[in-house]
Amino acid sequence: MTVSNTGPKLKVRNVHFNFDKVPKHWILRSSVATHFINSMHIVFPEGEKFFVRSVRHFAKDIKDAELRTEINSFCGQEGVHAREHQRFWEVMEEQNLKPKNFANFLKTTMFAGKYSYEKISTKLLNTISPQLGDKFQLSVTTALEHYTAIIANALFLEPLATNKNIAPQMLELLHWHASEEIEHKAVCFDVLKEVDDSYLLRVSGMGVASILLWSSIATGQVYFIIMDKDKSIIKMPFEIFILFNAIVFGEVGKNLSKHFLDYFKPNFHPNDIDDRYLIEKFFKDKTYA
Ligand SMILES: [Fe+2]
Ligand SMILES: [Fe+2]
Repeated sequence: MTVSNTGPKLKVRNVHFNFDKVPKHWILRSSVATHFINSMHIVFPEGEKFFVRSVRHFAKDIKDAELRTEINSFCGQEGVHAREHQRFWEVMEEQNLKPKNFANFLKTTMFAGKYSYEKISTKLLNTISPQLGDKFQLSVTTALEHYTAIIANALFLEPLATNKNIAPQMLELLHWHASEEIEHKAVCFDVLKEVDDSYLLRVSGMGVASILLWSSIATGQVYFIIMDKDKSIIKMPFEIFILFNAIVFGEVGKNLSKHFLDYFKPNFHPNDIDDRYLIEKFFKDKTYA
């Protein structure tokens, strides 16, 4: 099989971010917007560990040596992403947001836990057909990787995402993560294609991925808003309007809806969305690039 990722080779950048002096409400001074992304600081590391488990399971079956190398780099990149987002948990602990409670909730219900979605559904599907459960988790991972790639694309195009509106060190973290999501967006897709080229398998993974992603982000957002003793109840309706407007009607919403549907084209490949120029632009002046 030919690896259709024609972009530059993946690079694992072992970056350490400095989270000193990050204000509690670090996006638009809004508790609602901040906790939307704070929730992702927990969802991403737990999800990324799931991605690595899903794709590693099939690494030994991949015949293409280049793709096997890319699997290793993919796992390396996701490992650094998980570590850096998880390092921010210390800041959230100091802010009394108790992020570990939410992380434990995700592990128990969705990933890794004995009675989690991941364990139960894999076991159940594997009893129907050998490897079906493992293939399905790879399909869910591939769909979630489509989400992370298109969210990354939208982040670069969103006019609100500037140093004026977002604490600069946090915007740097988000842009670095976004760049690597775009960089490795085709890896899981190519692995799934080699493992099982079924269109039905690919799109059914998107159904579960959508439920897992949005329900976990929304649950985390509500949890952190409840935990936040410094939120302004009076400002909250306005903050909800700003976030809703950006997600649904702004660049983020337009971009996400456009590229989300691309996934359902039978001949779709992640590299059909040509956005490598965003990575090149971002990494141009970075010492760690
Ligand atoms: Fe990631
Ligand atoms: Fe990723």
